[in-house]
Amino acid sequence: MIEAQRHSVKLAPSMIASDWAQPLETIRALTEAGVEWLHWDAMDGHFVPNLTLGPMFLAALRPHTDLHFDAHLMLSNPGDYLEAFIEAGANSISIHVEAGAHLHRSIGRIKELGAMAGAVLNPGTPISALDVVLPELDYVLVMSVNPGFSGQKFLPLAIDKIAALNQKRQELGLEFLIQVDGGIAPATAPLVVRAGADVLVCGSNIFSSGTPQENVRVLRKAIDKTWLEIV
Ligand code: DX5
Ligand code: ZN
Repeated sequence: MIEAQRHSVKLAPSMIASDWAQPLETIRALTEAGVEWLHWDAMDGHFVPNLTLGPMFLAALRPHTDLHFDAHLMLSNPGDYLEAFIEAGANSISIHVEAGAHLHRSIGRIKELGAMAGAVLNPGTPISALDVVLPELDYVLVMSVNPGFSGQKFLPLAIDKIAALNQKRQELGLEFLIQVDGGIAPATAPLVVRAGADVLVCGSNIFSSGTPQENVRVLRKAIDKTWLEIV
């Protein structure tokens, strides 16, 4: 039986995998498809070997949608950019546990600025790295690929980490959400939902072929089927 605090699973399409020539059209399609969050991957070419977007990109799109903006900061100094992302319209910000010495301070600052605060675990980082800050968090992002690129293969080690976090959440009576990011598709979504994930980030599966609407529909169907099995 699933614990009472879990209600539904949110989908968070990863916008870096979409067609950058037409972000407004993509947002319209995703809104029509009924997604809950938009996931924005900021990469600095240092913490991860890729460069993507900064807060200006979010700010340009913010007036065009009411969807929740979720910023995933793959930056070496995430603490330096919290104000900028929140001013640009981010509703939640996640920072990597591996990205510096001031995790606790940054989490406090994100919340002070009025956004949801998340901490991210790379595949090689154990969940015990979060023990001290767990009660402060609104969500934990479990990476199911090594960060840096869309289109990588799902790492099954994420399943046990999600299950262990879910158990910890119950034992401690906490309410943080569990988010998962990397290689999510109709075949892998049931595995992470069963383990306890609440927010599924999905890039290439939604954007690399067909239409986002149809791909979201198929993914949602797989999620809902699993959900009905476990409640
Ligand atoms: C990877 C990013 C992801 C990525 C997901 O570093 O954090 O959000 O875009 O893409 P897929 O779903 O294709 O693995
Ligand atoms: Zn991401």
